Amino acid sequence: MKIKGKHFRTIWVAEDGHSIQIIDQTKLPHHFKTVSLTSTDDAVNAISDMLVRGAPLIGATAAYGYALAAHANPSNKNLEAAYDSLLASRPTAVNLRWALDKVRAHVIALPETDRVVAAYAIAAEICDEDSAMCEAMGDHALPLIEAIAKSKADEGLADTTVNILTHCNAGWLATVDWGTAIAPIYKAHEAGIKVHVWVDETRPRNQGASLTSWELLNHGVPHTLIVDNAGGHLMQQGMVDICFVGTDRTTGSGDVCNKIGTYLKALAAYDNDVPFYVCAPSPSIDWAMEDGLTQMPIEERDSQEITQITGITSIGTIETVTIAPAGTPARNDAFDVTPREYITGLVTERGIAEANRDSLEALFPEHKQQD
Ligand code: MRU
Repeated sequence: MKIKGKHFRTIWVAEDGHSIQIIDQTKLPHHFKTVSLTSTDDAVNAISDMLVRGAPLIGATAAYGYALAAHANPSNKNLEAAYDSLLASRPTAVNLRWALDKVRAHVIALPETDRVVAAYAIAAEICDEDSAMCEAMGDHALPLIEAIAKSKADEGLADTTVNILTHCNAGWLATVDWGTAIAPIYKAHEAGIKVHVWVDETRPRNQGASLTSWELLNHGVPHTLIVDNAGGHLMQQGMVDICFVGTDRTTGSGDVCNKIGTYLKALAAYDNDVPFYVCAPSPSIDWAMEDGLTQMPIEERDSQEITQITGITSIGTIETVTIAPAGTPARNDAFDVTPREYITGLVTERGIAEANRDSLEALFPEHKQQD
């Protein structure tokens, strides 16, 4: 997507041909800063410290982290150690394991002399595929937005704007390009449909406030930032037409794990008959997992993310302040699971499935479970 007219992806190979450039998302929206990753450890830290985040981008960064390991030393021992440390960098997004398994399967079968070129090629392929999958999800979901705009026009409403609620950042910053949940919004905006996005701030790290707002602002998409607790009220007032969220891991049976707070939005949507769609590219689907509530590895992050908040002051310095009494215990579960019954549909790169195994397997027969 574009920043001040220049096209960017979130990750790319530097001119030296091996180091990896990323956008440091911890500095947004106040500073646009790129960072160079020159070792596997750099990639591990970029993922765990959330310089890069979002399930597909975590996967892409891990793949390049593996390529950096091959560049340093393509021995089996080094590559296996890199695989293990990258896999441990964040627990919930299944794209991490998917990308690492893909790059390892190709590379480890080759003689050491061929491994570096192959690893970079597979990582690049993962990035290209991710961008194409996200764009395809945008195309598949566009008719949902078109239909709402049309029904408002048919009702004779003066304002046919489609009001869309989203949670966390599932835009292009969370992927390689386009985004998952925001791709349909970009597509609708490009198609000339009037859209307006309710952006959940997404405490504690505020990915909505700092990243989704920044993306939509740069792209000229009308949006309004709301506190996390406002969505239910807006739905009751008829001010939300449809919800789109992303996912870090969706079970083969259709349960959706996504940023903490997604479940409450899904409940409110269900209670108010607001369609609730999850944009789930196939690398975010854990085909082997059946029950999201009991089997999902939910990341628990540092409690300081809750007791402190970071922002820019009136004189332009970035500062972190404490918002709770010193020593307040805080618990920071970073994700939750929305059971499949609250989900209207799963938007994939192959089309829209119902949130159940039969429907997902009809789109992805290669993942059909053997009886
Ligand atoms: O903790 P984060 O910022 O990595 O969480 C990101 C999300 O929860 C996104 O909604 C998700 O990765 C799915 S869409 C890219």
